Amino acid sequence: MKIILMGPPGSGKGTQASYIASFAGVNSVSSGDLFRDNLARDTELGRLAKTYMDQGKYVPDNVTIDMVMSWIEAPANKEGFVLDGFPRTLMQAEALDDRLSELGGVDKVILFNVPEVELVKRLSGRILCRKCQMPFHKEFSPPKNDGECDKCGGELFQRDDDTEVVVRKRLKVYTEETDPVVDWYRKTTNIVEIDGSQEIRDVEASLNEALR
Ligand code: AP5
Ligand code: MG
Repeated sequence: MKIILMGPPGSGKGTQASYIASFAGVNSVSSGDLFRDNLARDTELGRLAKTYMDQGKYVPDNVTIDMVMSWIEAPANKEGFVLDGFPRTLMQAEALDDRLSELGGVDKVILFNVPEVELVKRLSGRILCRKCQMPFHKEFSPPKNDGECDKCGGELFQRDDDTEVVVRKRLKVYTEETDPVVDWYRKTTNIVEIDGSQEIRDVEASLNEALR
């Protein structure tokens, strides 16, 4: 299964990615997590990405495409994967399409729809694990123990790009750059649109139905 997860910032891509990956028996990757991992290791790519992420802008296509393609080409991911947050520009979508044409193309594109007012609430209360990147929410999905990840025990932190000013910019960039990619998938593939504003468990139930 080759699955693409799309949706605006805060729509629940990261929350549902591991659920979908275990359902489909494949690995998942978030392009944002790959950048944050590079930043934590203080690589040149991480330092470059930070200058864009801190302003809520997209990282340039050439470096983003190379980074995600290297992940896809790893032997463990070649046969199937869940991509969270890639592609988000038409150039990225074309590069992925070219790459996947030899591998049978994308099986499913899943889009989470959530109203903007809800997205802002979600991102302002989000905390996530420094080690495994699992997202939680102070109110909607709190961890069992304060400041500690339920999954791996890692420390929970707030992202630098989750301030209201940067969130508004990220939402604007999504509309400008990624809405055209959604339209393109609507025309060329079988896109499944999920009401991402439901409770987390109800989103999972909708996904179950969509993936069956
Ligand atoms: P990235 O890290 O991918 O950020 P994003 O796309 O803005 O999405 P988020 O991670 O903020 O949201 P999410 O949909 O994963 O929501 P989550 O599950 O955490 O990218 C960051 C930056 O990297 C970009 O701005 C860009 O600079 C760069 N970048 C990344 N990919 C790129 C690309 N392809 N090209 C160029 N640049 C790129 O949920 C959010 C919160 O809501 C959590 O607190 C969660 O607990 C809660 N929640 C989730 N579901 C529900 C629910 N159903 N009900 C209530 N609460 C919920
Ligand atoms: Mg995410």
